[in-house]
Amino acid sequence: MKKIALALLVASVGLMAADGAALFKKCQSCHGAKAEKKALNKSQVIAGWDAAKTEAALKGYKAGTYGGAMKGLMKGQVASYDDAKIAAVAKYISTLK
Ligand code: HEC
Repeated sequence: MKKIALALLVASVGLMAADGAALFKKCQSCHGAKAEKKALNKSQVIAGWDAAKTEAALKGYKAGTYGGAMKGLMKGQVASYDDAKIAAVAKYISTLK
């Protein structure tokens, strides 16, 4: 029984990690493969941002409470991401350097 629980835990952690990378795929065209670019020359470089900071920004875009001149564009990017997806992609970005 313990072994099964452990296997499930390992599997779900693995899934979450894969998720973040997969969720970041559509961000790469603007932010760069390793989040090293200023998106459309407008955003800050987000590579290595603390996960909590990225999460706050993304939730802010979704709610319309964060961002600059192009926040509408980012709202569209994260509109379909729920809290779990936002957390996963934010965690992934924090590992990029
Ligand atoms: C079409 C280009 C484009 C795509 C795709 C895109 N972004 Fe952005 N992103 C931008 C721009 C432009 C800004 C600056 C918006 C503003 O004015 O606040 C930005 C801002 C951000 C910021 C805040 C940085 C800052 O300057 O405050 C984060 C975090 C972010 N994006 C994450 C993501 C994530 C995660 C994805 C994928 C789900 C994504 N972006 C997809 C263009 C893009």
